[in-house]
Amino acid sequence: MRKDYIDTKEYTKEELLYLVDLGLKLKEAIRNGHYPALLKNKSLGMIFEQSSTRTRVSFETAMTQLGGHAEYLAPGQIQLGGHESVGDTARVLSQLVDILMARVERHHTVTELAENATIPVINAMSDYNHPTQELGDITTMSEHLPAGKKLTDCKVVFVGDATQVCASLLFVTTKLGMDFVQYGPKGFQLREEHLKIAAENCRLSGGTFLITEDEDEALKDADFVYTDVWYGLYEAELSEAERMKTFYPKYQVDAAMMKKASPAAKFMHCLPATRGEEVTDEVLDADYSIVIEEAGNRLTSIRALLVYLLAPSCRYASQTVAAKYDAEFELMIHNRPVSK
Ligand code: CP
Repeated sequence: MRKDYIDTKEYTKEELLYLVDLGLKLKEAIRNGHYPALLKNKSLGMIFEQSSTRTRVSFETAMTQLGGHAEYLAPGQIQLGGHESVGDTARVLSQLVDILMARVERHHTVTELAENATIPVINAMSDYNHPTQELGDITTMSEHLPAGKKLTDCKVVFVGDATQVCASLLFVTTKLGMDFVQYGPKGFQLREEHLKIAAENCRLSGGTFLITEDEDEALKDADFVYTDVWYGLYEAELSEAERMKTFYPKYQVDAAMMKKASPAAKFMHCLPATRGEEVTDEVLDADYSIVIEEAGNRLTSIRALLVYLLAPSCRYASQTVAAKYDAEFELMIHNRPVSK
């Protein structure tokens, strides 16, 4: 059965935690020098409508490490966005590669790719959500749990603008039964469409969520303090002056704000960061900042996701079948027609 990864709404808590476990097991194996060829001969098509460092390199490295191959399909290098429709692109690429990922400007582009493809499609970030970041972030949190706490006991506070990363963090934390807070100004808070999903998640998981402008209430007992840039949503892109007027200094994560969280709290950021805007150098470079490991875990979780989604198509011929074809190819190549 074919499965996509567009939105963690379509995944159960058990599936997401399985992906974390699989990612950590693959990370351990590779650290110990074993690169299992779980994606041997598989090809990934990578469509990018926007620039990327972490996501692009993680997908490409994951495919290489597990025996497969990735092809970077940049705007201007493929027909998508020209006169070929998204549906035609999806149907054609389904004949040419085994799995697709797409970073798109508009969410409907990735859903249209998935509706028309006959291979799995991964959302590598849209203007609505960033589900591969979600998977990497819960992996990182799992590795940095406060002493004596489980993931479900943890409180995660997102500070600032309701970017697609903020929405994604709300989705995954409430799905897993964690406590989520967005501490951000009115006009830049998560919307009703996000909160409805979170409410349903919490009903099933026992998690909670809160949107507030009260710093003390937000930060109290926080285990993870998270932020993102202040101009993440494309339709609401702000100038530097507007960003500073809206968010600075109240929503900048600085050392004083971190002091209001739990003493063992960790700082997270999806990166890239705008140093001096949403976070100070002091916090970003502090011992409690786990942003570099967080970036590394994009690779950890993307390895697992690729193995999981490609598992149904990773059936390889038996030695007998392979030997039969090898003999036939040897004969065909020996008897090839060659004009004088
Ligand atoms: N966090 C993230 O998605 O980074 P890139 O834009 O560099 O991929």
